[in-house]
Amino acid sequence: KRDYKIAPSILSADFARLGEEADAVLAAGGDMIHFDVMDNHYVPNLTFGPMVCKALRQYGITAPIDVHLMVEPVDDLIEQFAEAGASYITFHPEASRHVDRSLQLIESAGCKAGLVLNPASSLDLIKHVVQRLDMLLLMSVNPGFGGQKFIPATLDKLREARALIDASGRDIRLEVDGGVNLETLKSVAEAGADTFVAGSAIFNAPDYADVIGQMRQQLAE
Ligand code: DX5
Ligand code: ZN
Repeated sequence: KRDYKIAPSILSADFARLGEEADAVLAAGGDMIHFDVMDNHYVPNLTFGPMVCKALRQYGITAPIDVHLMVEPVDDLIEQFAEAGASYITFHPEASRHVDRSLQLIESAGCKAGLVLNPASSLDLIKHVVQRLDMLLLMSVNPGFGGQKFIPATLDKLREARALIDASGRDIRLEVDGGVNLETLKSVAEAGADTFVAGSAIFNAPDYADVIGQMRQQLAE
């Protein structure tokens, strides 16, 4: 069994009560907060930036914050998110002109670094920078919105990514994002993912602890 982590995405939280919502999913058993940054440029939607991340830290959130940058360009936001208390910072390689440099910027800012691949993006994009990665995030929907349907081709890609990570000898988390719910979780875990982003599956449920508990139970089986 892997060291599984559940990362509730606050994209589906009630933004008017964001601190309480983050507290609630952590108290319900979430391991880290997944923080979706959208710029209405790289993706067709607009969410929140470093000030909101900082506000969550000031509110008292101490769990890791997993910042998923869906922005272009990337570099300017790295230092700001590091200062705002980000733990992981991941970005899409197509959104940075110099991927290796962006990864180095994240590391020197004191955060864990990761790349995110869209459903149609090849694993070759990470081939020459594996030694700089702490996380690889595979999108199982096209980025921009919560509540979309899981794209099944992600399962084969997860298996390939798992083999690549194991061969690298590095401790790299393999995260999956999009359409993860009680129906799809088991298959993504079997395909090799160890970190599960879930937005609507958790926040649209009446009882967060109940869904997260069921997820854990499936992962333990
Ligand atoms: C999509 C975001 C996801 C999103 C997942 O662009 O990156 O993190 O919140 O939402 P669900 O779990 O509802 O598919
Ligand atoms: Zn995300």
